[in-house]
Amino acid sequence: MPFQGQKSHEFFKRAQQVIPLGVNSNFRYNGDYGTPVVADAKDGYLYDFDGKRYIDYRLGWGPIILGHADPFVNGRVKEAIDHGISFAATQEYEVRVAERIVEMVPDIEMVRLSNTGSECTMHAIRLARGYTGRDLILKFEGCYHGAHDYVLWSTASGKIDEVGDRQHPRAYKQSLGIPEVMRSLVQLCPWNDVEVLGEMLQENGEQIAAVIVEPILGNGNGLLPQPGYLEFLREQCDQYGIVLIFDEVKTGFRIAAGGAREHFGVRPDITTYAKALGNGYPVAAIGGKKDIMMTFGPGKVFQGGTYTGNVVSTAAADATLEFMQSGKVFPQIEKVGTMLMQGIDEILNRFGIPHVINGVPAMFGVCLTETQPKDWRDLCQMCDWDTLEKIHLYMLEKYGIFPEPDGFEPYFLCSDHTVEDAAVTLQAFEEGVKHAIS
Ligand SMILES: Cc1ncc(COP(=O)(O)O)c(C=O)c1O
Repeated sequence: MPFQGQKSHEFFKRAQQVIPLGVNSNFRYNGDYGTPVVADAKDGYLYDFDGKRYIDYRLGWGPIILGHADPFVNGRVKEAIDHGISFAATQEYEVRVAERIVEMVPDIEMVRLSNTGSECTMHAIRLARGYTGRDLILKFEGCYHGAHDYVLWSTASGKIDEVGDRQHPRAYKQSLGIPEVMRSLVQLCPWNDVEVLGEMLQENGEQIAAVIVEPILGNGNGLLPQPGYLEFLREQCDQYGIVLIFDEVKTGFRIAAGGAREHFGVRPDITTYAKALGNGYPVAAIGGKKDIMMTFGPGKVFQGGTYTGNVVSTAAADATLEFMQSGKVFPQIEKVGTMLMQGIDEILNRFGIPHVINGVPAMFGVCLTETQPKDWRDLCQMCDWDTLEKIHLYMLEKYGIFPEPDGFEPYFLCSDHTVEDAAVTLQAFEEGVKHAIS
């Protein structure tokens, strides 16, 4: 459904002349009239080229945690850049960021920084392979861990009819250009399924270097792990000598200062961060215990990059984490997110629409279903995504309320969202429901 105004559409046509499909990520393309364009952003709002304001619940798909153009973060960056930005040498801000992560996240002793979540999951998997001397990794269906060939298998946009049965999942290749031989290095498993995982590990647990998991399905409606599931992963990885990697690119510094490690009280061996770590600046991190992290080094496991630990990104992360440490961020997100979750639940109940609300206030999903889905397979098969998309598109077009229309992607909250924003959003949601069922 089109929602670009005249000037926004003209701008997008210009972009399409020189950028394939007018976007710098396949995920961003949503048709010639339905792809968002942004002219300006501040706090919890976006503005398009026609001057229309949107309450932004996409927040760049998660990174914006303090609001757009945050003055504290931008102030730190402005202060820093006058002293140079890129040295191929250790500088103050990267040390501060590592120190803050070690302080804020339970059981992280050392940190290496890079620029994107994809780089971090790639380095984390290599670290696990180097540490264990094993090649195979196990990943879960519906989990997205970035753009590289190790992990671009059976993510949330995979095809349900091409993944085999639950006991014998087949890895769905998410892109042309991934060498077929990579398939032999990754084993797929349904998420949240203790039985299937237990059987798989019993069969070949001793060949697996790493189990990589999103502790909350960040690209799957914010589905939560069932009680005891993450503990089971920890126990099984210990039993077979497997490195457990939590990919906290979406949950880290978003669902709590200490992310999923703190929220669920389970400690993986390595954790990857990006997104909220820098409030939108390109910065990412791998953290873990000293013994495993010290496997990085010349002659051991390679990690690096020209821009890793650069001043711009690390100054932004330094300020973002400092602000979080002040304790002001999470209570506001909790308050507004809870108001939205409860309000949407109440509206859907009132209209007699079966549903569940998944996730936590900082990232939650709405799912129209009779039964609680437990994994990506259930999400694909049980839920009425078309009606939800109709509701979201109506909110977008008529009210400038911008959750991702595709309900697989959760609503994201930032500390600049207000109770007034939530009240307007709920009103729009209700109107959206009326429109969708009329
Ligand atoms: C859980 C998770 N891991 C990794 C990535 C990849 O991060 P990036 O897009 O910064 O490369 C993403 C991106 O959305 C993600 O959601």
